[in-house]
Amino acid sequence: MSAKSEQVFVGAIDQGTSSTRFLIFDVKGQIVASHQCEYQNYYAKAGWVEKDPSEILESVETAVAGACRRFNSLGFEASQIKSVGITNQRETTVAFDVETGKPLTNAIIWNDVRTKDVVRRLIDEAGSASRFAAINGLPITTYFSAVKMRWMLENVGAVKEARERGTLRFGTIDTWLIYKLTGTYVTDVTNASRTMLMDLKTFKWSAECLDFFGVRESELPEIRSSAEVYGTIGEGRLQGVPIAGCLGDQQAAMVGQSCFEAGEAKNTYGTGCFMLFNTGDQPIFSKNGLLTTVGYQLGPDAVPKYALEGSIAVAGSAIQWLRDKVGLVEAANEIGSLSDSVDDNGGVYFVTAFSGLFAPYWRDDARGCIVGLTQYATRGHIARATLESVCYQTRAILDAMRKDSGTDLRRLRVDGGMTNSDQAMQIQADILDIEVVRPENRETTALGAALAAGLGVGVWQNEAELRQIAQSNVSAFWSRISSEKRDEMLQGWEKAVERSYNWA
Ligand code: G3P
Repeated sequence: MSAKSEQVFVGAIDQGTSSTRFLIFDVKGQIVASHQCEYQNYYAKAGWVEKDPSEILESVETAVAGACRRFNSLGFEASQIKSVGITNQRETTVAFDVETGKPLTNAIIWNDVRTKDVVRRLIDEAGSASRFAAINGLPITTYFSAVKMRWMLENVGAVKEARERGTLRFGTIDTWLIYKLTGTYVTDVTNASRTMLMDLKTFKWSAECLDFFGVRESELPEIRSSAEVYGTIGEGRLQGVPIAGCLGDQQAAMVGQSCFEAGEAKNTYGTGCFMLFNTGDQPIFSKNGLLTTVGYQLGPDAVPKYALEGSIAVAGSAIQWLRDKVGLVEAANEIGSLSDSVDDNGGVYFVTAFSGLFAPYWRDDARGCIVGLTQYATRGHIARATLESVCYQTRAILDAMRKDSGTDLRRLRVDGGMTNSDQAMQIQADILDIEVVRPENRETTALGAALAAGLGVGVWQNEAELRQIAQSNVSAFWSRISSEKRDEMLQGWEKAVERSYNWA
C-alpha cells in the first residue's frame, strides 16, 4: 500500500446562512479539498427570511460532490475520510413529517422577524423577556427556535395536521441534515442551547419551557454531545462514513480558534457577527444583554463548557445588500478599498438594523438607517460606515462582556469573511483599542467541526492535540487613532442607534 492511500482525512459540512461548503482536512488540520455553493434565501415579505429545507440538503450534496471530485483528482478515495462533522447556522428551524421525511413548510431562518407579535404576546404572558433566562440563558426574542416553532404551530396548516397525527418533528439545521443523511434524529448540546427549550444545567429539554412555548418533547430530537458517532451516511459519495461531530457554527469557530480556556474569546464575521467568550465549566448569566450558551462538549463523558455570547444580526449581509440591492460595488471585497478611499466616516453612520438590533441592545423595533449625510458624503463614506457599524456593535458587546465576566479582555481572535479585509480589521482595532488577532487559517468554523468529528472517531485523542492543530500563524492589528477620536466616533454611533429605534 502506498503512503498516499494510508493517509486519513476528516470532512466538515459547513451549512451557513448564505452558503454551504464541504471541506476535507488532513490530520494536521490543513485543507486538502473544498467546494462551496452560495445560495439565496427567500424574502417573501419585509422581515421574512426563509429557505426550502430540501434545497439546503441539495446544497450539501452539491458541496460534497464538488469537494470529493477534487479529492479524487488528487489521488485520494472517499473511504480515506474517517468521519464528517456538521456545523450549521443556528436557531433556523425546520418542521418535517417523520413518516414521509419531507419538510412541512420552509425553514424559518434565524434572522427572520415575522414572530415579532408572537414575541410581544409571549413576553406579556411571561411577565418579562428574561423569565426563562435562568433555565435557558436566553431572552424571549424573534431570534431563537422556540418562537419559530410556536409561529409554525399557530400559522401553518400542515404543521398543525402533522401534530394531530403525531408525525410532527422539529429540528435545527444540524438535526435536519443528520436525519436526512443517517436516519438518526439528534441534535448536539450547542444547537439545543439555542432553541430556548434546553435546561443549561441538565442538558435536557426543560418541561417548563416546553410547556410555555407549547412544544412537545416527542417533537424534538435527542440531545447528544458535540463529538460522538451519531450515525453513518446512508448513500452518496460519503456512504458508510460516520457523522461524529456537530456544533453550531459559532461554537465550532470557538473550537477552531482553540478558545479552550476560560477567558479566551473569538469574534466571527459571517452573515451576522458573533462574539463568544469561554466561561469554563460554569455558566455566567448576563446582566448586560449577552446570551448564556453552551460552548462545546467534546464527547459524551466530557465536561461541557459554557460561553457568554454577543450576537450581531447583520455583518456580511449588509455588504451583500450594498452589492445586490444597492449596486454600490460589484464584488464584496471592493468594500474594503472603497472604505480606504476616505480618511474617516465623514460624519456618516449606518445602523444596519435590518432585523432589529441584537446584542446588547435587543430592540426588535429598530430598523436600518443611515444618518449624518451631507453633500460631502461619498460612496467611500457609506462603505466605511457599513464596516464601522459591525465594529461599533462589537465594541458594545465587548464592553458588556467586560462587565459580566469581570475580566478585562485585551485580545480578540477574529475570523470569517470580513476579516480578509485588512481595512476592516484596522477599523475594528481602532474602535476596540485592544489587540485584534487574525489567524492564517481562517476556516475556523469548518476546522472546529472537523476537529470534533476526528475526536469522535479517535483520529485525534484529546483537547491538547486539537489545540496544537488549531493554532496557526497570526497577524495582529492595534489601534492607530487617538482616544479623543475614538470617543467622538463612539458618541456618534450611540446617537445614530437611538435614531433607529421605534420604526417597526
Ligand atoms: O446564530 C446565527 C448564526 O449561527 C449564523 O451564522 O455565519 O451564517 O452568519 P452565519
